[in-house]
Amino acid sequence: MKKVTTLKKAVFPVAGLGTRFLPATKAQPKEMLPVVDKPLIQYAVEEAYAAGIRHMIFVTGRNKRAIEDHFDTAYELETELEAAKKHHLLELVRSMNPGDMDFSYVRQPRSLGLGHAVLCAEHLVGDEPFAVLLADDLMVGKPPVLAQMAAKFEQIQHSILAVQEVPIEQTRRYGIVATEAAVDGLMKIKKMVEKPAPEVAPSRMGVAGRYILTPAVFRHIRNQPTGVGGEIQLTDGIAGLMAEEGVYAYQYTGKRYDCGSKEGFLEATVELALQHSEVGAYFRNYLENLQIGWSGRERRKQNLVALSD
Ligand code: G1P
Repeated sequence: MKKVTTLKKAVFPVAGLGTRFLPATKAQPKEMLPVVDKPLIQYAVEEAYAAGIRHMIFVTGRNKRAIEDHFDTAYELETELEAAKKHHLLELVRSMNPGDMDFSYVRQPRSLGLGHAVLCAEHLVGDEPFAVLLADDLMVGKPPVLAQMAAKFEQIQHSILAVQEVPIEQTRRYGIVATEAAVDGLMKIKKMVEKPAPEVAPSRMGVAGRYILTPAVFRHIRNQPTGVGGEIQLTDGIAGLMAEEGVYAYQYTGKRYDCGSKEGFLEATVELALQHSEVGAYFRNYLENLQIGWSGRERRKQNLVALSD
């Protein structure tokens, strides 16, 4: 494969039904749920853009039109905002598609798994390395997590998966990898299993929803039998790829919010609201005054007062 210095394409599998967020996701895509004021999918697209990627490929399904509309020009809205001289909002709306991005959409006709979703994008990706971003995993990092991975990819030209340590009782939620020792922040993967039970998990290193893959992975996904849950798993395709080329795990710097779960979504909302330029100060004050129990520091203070009584 020719040396690739800049990744050009990112695949966003967004065909999932989002049943964990019903009824909110009955008529709207789960990827459009906002964390503070921005939909999940926009965080992921911005992360890909920050990694230098300009071609965004969405693998969609029925009921996902809102995603296409979100990244399209909104003439009516823009005309109204312009007439009302709401320049700040106009800029905000236009900034979502800065003019140097291409968007492609392909349908995944049936829910046959993440590997199958990625395979649906093969003809749009072609014969070059590409990123996969799962918008459910909201990643916050400086530099952004995919940009960290792209810098590593530039050096080694091999597939890279973002990983993090997960609690042993949660291995059933992740692709789990066993690796060699880290060299320069990268660990060569020896084994990879999708959603193993804790007793058989090869480690506690779980794959987060960010991948940089070489195009050879498509052949391996295609040749895999169905895996866990009767689905065509991306993990199994990558495990096949490992027999042919080195695949590496990268322990990213940053934080992952599992916005596919209500708990993770709430954590992201609270933490990103606290950092938000417009509402952050207000929200901090609000939380500090909320009578939901004492923080550790306050509790210690109260104990000291009680002891000195
Ligand atoms: C998918 C992958 C899994 C990965 C996870 C990260 O699972 O199949 O390997 O660890 O994303 O979020 P899902 O969460 O779609 O079930």
